[in-house]
Amino acid sequence: MKIAVFASGTGSNFAAILESIQSKKIMNVEVVLLVSDRPKALVIQKARDERIPVFTFKANDFPNKQVYEEEILNELTQREVDFIVLAGYMRLLGPVLLQAYDGKIINVHPSLLPAFTGKDAIGQALDCGVKVTGVTVHYVDEGMDTGPIIDQRAVTIDPDETRETLIKKIQEQEHRLLPEVIQNLASRLTF
Ligand code: GAR
Repeated sequence: MKIAVFASGTGSNFAAILESIQSKKIMNVEVVLLVSDRPKALVIQKARDERIPVFTFKANDFPNKQVYEEEILNELTQREVDFIVLAGYMRLLGPVLLQAYDGKIINVHPSLLPAFTGKDAIGQALDCGVKVTGVTVHYVDEGMDTGPIIDQRAVTIDPDETRETLIKKIQEQEHRLLPEVIQNLASRLTF
């Protein structure tokens, strides 16, 4: 299964996927492309270090989402991408990609969905004072973090929890759960 990872940030989940492939926790999966909407994102250097092709774009350089997604789709088609993993990609997908990859796009989100959608889910959980939050991997649809849930992990928020300690706990779970889901899907799907 050839996958493209979409990311806007530091790329710790991207790195976790690559590590799982290298250590054979994920089998028969190849990351053939990184797509990023932030040409200066740290994730890009991680891809270059591993010699993974990178496609970057700035949304503002295009008249609308349809036009830049057509460019992305062209890249995906040329590289025969079977499946898309959103790993910290902070944009909603539009009909161009959703229709071309119907049922073949997943996202990792740092909360127990449907709670705390959108940006800064970790801050939202802390502000609300919940005692349990977590991580969700779900299929992507046109909504914000609304597609069918594939799997979740709970993370306890301790009384002395800080933003930093909670981010660390959430990321540890993300870095386990996302590769696990990718492996499960790769072993079930045929391309
Ligand atoms: C991750 O925590 C991911 O769950 C979150 O962005 C972070 C990216 O970190 N995604 C969302 O909030 C999507 N709504 P990373 O760049 O270190 O992988």
